[in-house]
Amino acid sequence: MTPEQQFVLEAMGITPRWQSRFAPATTTETVVMSAITTEAIESAEHHAAPVVVPVTPVVAWDTLQQQVQQCQNCGLAQTRTQTVFSRGSMQAKWMIIGEAPGEQEDKQGLPFVGPAGKLLDAMLHAVGLDREQDVLIANILKCRPPGNRNPQPAEIAACFSYLEAQIDCVKPAIIIALGRFAAQTLLDTDSAISRLRGRVHRWRDIPLVVSYHPAYLLRNLPDKARAWEDWCLARQTMS
Ligand code: URA
Repeated sequence: MTPEQQFVLEAMGITPRWQSRFAPATTTETVVMSAITTEAIESAEHHAAPVVVPVTPVVAWDTLQQQVQQCQNCGLAQTRTQTVFSRGSMQAKWMIIGEAPGEQEDKQGLPFVGPAGKLLDAMLHAVGLDREQDVLIANILKCRPPGNRNPQPAEIAACFSYLEAQIDCVKPAIIIALGRFAAQTLLDTDSAISRLRGRVHRWRDIPLVVSYHPAYLLRNLPDKARAWEDWCLARQTMS
């Protein structure tokens, strides 16, 4: 990495992805949370030359979360109770992306904890995924739109870089976009869900599957069967 690249990463609060075994870590947290393998450490101890080992970008994640907590990029900062950043595991291979916090999420500061979240939990369970360990759940918007109105384009534009940074940190093996706003934003299209679901798209190089939003499914039970097909498609894509 050049000094210029290092400077840009540090200015963005991002820990270098690769860190020398012999270079002191910048924070205790980085050491504790780093994904240093036993083999890498043993190898480092038996070789004179520095060995490069992977480090999970914990600092970047914490910094990002703090930035979101303090965000004033749009008018939703005035009406939110608190920001809603994510739930689940940063090590997850599955990243689930919804629309925006609702009333319960705004109160509790966690995504998908209201009625739609209960259905999402059930669907995750049905495909054999643990909500806390196997997935990372986030939203397009980090603040609740008043009265659960639809997100406005300017709000999505103001918030989207946070989601991009989250995806960059987690590096999921698959993304599930739930509902129109998540699907259309990530795929940069205005096509309907019915046209987007049923096939595997890509966000950058990550496979992306579109499905119905659980809140929609609560009102439209017949589409649950289609949603189940979408989750099976995602499962198949992962195997
Ligand atoms: N709906 C969403 O899209 N996200 C949430 O976090 C809750 C409900």
